[in-house]
Amino acid sequence: MSLIFDVHPTSDPMPARRREEILANPGFGQHFTDHMAVATWTAADGWHDSAVVPYGPIRLDPAAAVLHYAQEIFEGLKAYRHDDGSIWLFRPDQNAARMQRSARRLALPELPAEDFLSSITTLVGTDADWVPSGGETSLYLRPFMFASEPFLGVRPAQRVSYVLIASPAGAYFAQGVKPVNIWITESYSRAGRGGTGAAKCGGNYASSLLAQSEAAEQGCEQVLFPDSAEGKWVEELGGMNVYLVTNAGELVTPELTGSILEGVTRDSILKLATDEGLTPVERKVSVEELLRGIADGAIREVFACGTAAVVTPIGAFKDIDGEYPVGDGAVGEVTQKVRRELLDIQYGRAEDRYGWMTKI
Ligand code: COI
Repeated sequence: MSLIFDVHPTSDPMPARRREEILANPGFGQHFTDHMAVATWTAADGWHDSAVVPYGPIRLDPAAAVLHYAQEIFEGLKAYRHDDGSIWLFRPDQNAARMQRSARRLALPELPAEDFLSSITTLVGTDADWVPSGGETSLYLRPFMFASEPFLGVRPAQRVSYVLIASPAGAYFAQGVKPVNIWITESYSRAGRGGTGAAKCGGNYASSLLAQSEAAEQGCEQVLFPDSAEGKWVEELGGMNVYLVTNAGELVTPELTGSILEGVTRDSILKLATDEGLTPVERKVSVEELLRGIADGAIREVFACGTAAVVTPIGAFKDIDGEYPVGDGAVGEVTQKVRRELLDIQYGRAEDRYGWMTKI
């Protein structure tokens, strides 16, 4: 039976004036709406106790398994306000399916796609005033699931919590669409063969943080992880996938190997490429090919992509041997075109020819 997310409205909503101030300059991930959706799973009763409740701290037993063994997964998607005031989601079915795949890998229960969707439509409907308008703002949605059973033995939890929170968002990178620099780490790996690289689980991000700090020390905004077996192949960045634009008109992204996150934006760009007169290619790309290509002009542009980052141009790569600028360091033509096309669909300015948008 499907879950019903009954709404229990807060008695203490954010005053409208303060909310408008936040929406005028939301930043990323700093402010949260008035409500959140919750549901509980137990091995005995399955999914139950679903509701939309006032946003606030979660009571958690100190022995909750997530705090010890990191049995946790999450998703990221956005709600967009169109010019006529309506609110739309971009490919939420893909996030629902990926959350189920992540759940399987982390031995968590699968949340049925219809319940995932209904938590989102009910929360966004309840907090509709929090969906910003104008520019590239949106309401970033963060569904997550974690082992809440108090138990210190190592085994899949018998009690799990699902929570969905929402956060008004502007650009992920503080500098907006300006090109970012990428540090190629030789010290750390993100994921190994048979590991959790393809799952969207907190552990992958936790293990990227030290490399991310190394990148920041080098003046870079993100880190590029080569594969862990050979340290040779481009996999992905700390929190986003990567694309190269070749002078042969190809849009190349590393093929999925099981240790790369199957990004929804990555997949959407593969589909949009042909419409833009480009050839989408998924294949292995070595770090050597990348650096040689940007040096001799065979690779004209490189960009990062993800729900939060959208399409972010890469201005230069750096490693222990030096710095490698991409093109003239400005935002490339193809990067701009892909970015514009994706945003136009998301904000309802271009025809939704793939049926990607869902109205709230
Ligand atoms: C997203 O793009 O939604 C992510 O989850 C990545 C994170 C860097 C914010």
